[in-house]
Amino acid sequence: MKSLIDTYTLNNGIKIPIVGFGTWQTPDGAIAKVAVKSALSSGYRHIDTAEMYGNEKSIGAAIKESGVSRNSLFITSKLSNSAHSYEKATAAIEKSLKDLQVSSLDLFLIHWPNPKMFRDTDWEKHLQDTWRALEDSYKAGKLKAIGVSNFKKHHFDILKETQTVKPMVNQIRICPGDYNAQLIEYCKSEDILLEAYSPLGTGKIFTDETIKELAEKNNRTVAQICLRWSLQHGFLPLPKSIHEDRIEENSHLFDFDLSASDISTIDSLKGIVGYVSDPDTAEF
Ligand SMILES: NC(=O)c1ccc[n+]([C@@H]2O[C@H](COP(=O)([O-])OP(=O)(O)OC[C@H]3O[C@@H](n4cnc5c(N)ncnc54)[C@H](OP(=O)(O)O)[C@@H]3O)[C@@H](O)[C@H]2O)c1
Repeated sequence: MKSLIDTYTLNNGIKIPIVGFGTWQTPDGAIAKVAVKSALSSGYRHIDTAEMYGNEKSIGAAIKESGVSRNSLFITSKLSNSAHSYEKATAAIEKSLKDLQVSSLDLFLIHWPNPKMFRDTDWEKHLQDTWRALEDSYKAGKLKAIGVSNFKKHHFDILKETQTVKPMVNQIRICPGDYNAQLIEYCKSEDILLEAYSPLGTGKIFTDETIKELAEKNNRTVAQICLRWSLQHGFLPLPKSIHEDRIEENSHLFDFDLSASDISTIDSLKGIVGYVSDPDTAEF
């Protein structure tokens, strides 16, 4: 692990840069464009967006304007919760490709396994049909890798009944204080890469005294400690910021190591940033 463009290898052989730039709650328009261009200038080559973030068009425009070549970039998007059927998912993939101005995406994820509007007696079938749409776009070469987000083991079991392609990624909330060891072990045993969303607890981590002490001791910032902890666990963190200085700060992760004792101190923190919504009961 030496830089932002080091890669993990997914279970289909595709290489993915080990840090992604998060864009949830990044307002569409000028702010998203400036943030993405700043990230590209700081050396990020992996951008994480979603149809539901409402900023794909600005991100696509920023990438084009940046002049960074498409084949040096890794772009992820995710399916809207309103598109859990074969037809809707197929159309949503086409829309993401168009809005991002690309002919293929490096990774496309089912954002949530069981959205409220499909939470009926057929939700498992909706999920399987949706996955089949991702598989078909993958087989057609429009998606270089496919995966899921917010999946628990029982959601993978539902896919397994009909899947012809195994998910390559599970993007879940992993940050100090919210670490689902059982699910993480399950994904590792299945060779499914763990992307760590909200690696800074959506900004709630910055007041935690333990992390602040570790930051001082290591002569690094709170954000750098959290992101390094994620990387040393083998996760792929997705830090988000709209501020150039923070975007740059969050990229400096490769000139220090956390000791085993610092890692276990962070591992032992519980609930300091609250816990992720249960995908089967979340109000969306
Ligand atoms: N799959 C899913 O369901 C899902 C869910 C949540 C998130 N995600 C992905 O994961 C990404 C990251 O998660 P997140 O957006 O929840 O938040 P996060 O990265 O955990 O934290 C972002 C927050 O921390 C602030 N921040 C960032 N760097 C900082 C620094 N160095 N110093 C001080 N403050 C800093 C940001 O403020 P400013 O922006 O104002 O600088 C923002 O308020 C998302 O953007 C998205 O791509 C996916």
